[in-house]
Amino acid sequence: MQKKELLYEGKAKKLFATEDENLLISEFKDDLTAFNGEKKSSEAGKGALNNKISTELFKLLEAKGIKTHFVKMLDDNHMLHKRTKVIQIEVIVRNIATGSLTRNLGIKDGTVLPFTLVEFDYKNDALGDPKLNDQHALILGLVEYQDELDKLRRVARQINDILKPYFAAKGLNLVDFKLEFGKDKDGNIILIDEISPDNCRFWDIASGEKMDKDRFRQGLGGLKVAYEEVLNRILGNK
Ligand code: TYD
Repeated sequence: MQKKELLYEGKAKKLFATEDENLLISEFKDDLTAFNGEKKSSEAGKGALNNKISTELFKLLEAKGIKTHFVKMLDDNHMLHKRTKVIQIEVIVRNIATGSLTRNLGIKDGTVLPFTLVEFDYKNDALGDPKLNDQHALILGLVEYQDELDKLRRVARQINDILKPYFAAKGLNLVDFKLEFGKDKDGNIILIDEISPDNCRFWDIASGEKMDKDRFRQGLGGLKVAYEEVLNRILGNK
């Protein structure tokens, strides 16, 4: 499957058409951005690591019955996936309080939440990705029906129920993560985008070390080593 025209360039990926109108190719870039694009950098090999990590996690989720856009990894930096109509909602799942939850509500950093929290953010850079409740999402027409919002929450929890114990067995705390969904050609809501240390927080259970993009955002260094470690643990090499 060959890349055809560039359809879109995002912060972490480029999206290409293919000869099949129902299939697209994502190219995983080495670029890193933080704080709504203000802080930019690049780390050679980061894109390939995220492609490989996402590939493994999409395969795991598919095997557990979660519908995703994943078709196959083509090479180090390219993934073939289904075309969908993107739902402009970021679905954030949290097990431990940190980041914006701590900043916005004053919950102490590192607090284990009494239950898994699922939040919606509006995917809209110009507005700074504000929080959404269900009524906001319906008024904005981001989905048609309440049922669809319920489905996003349900599938996000199912994904957490699969990934949290999976990473715990590999010595990693899945602190929080961001998911995106789209509608396929038959109107089914499926998981899209990527699942990688760019959009998940992983804390090493033994040392408490951050193993995700916060290494860049907080100027901790060692981003690539941390991403390689996450991949190696996924592949069972550690
Ligand atoms: P959050 O704590 O809301 O934001 P911040 O990064 O500003 O502290 O992030 C929660 C999780 O969602 C975290 O794993 C990062 C991920 N996320 C993204 O991947 N993209 C985003 O635009 C946002 C806001 C979060």
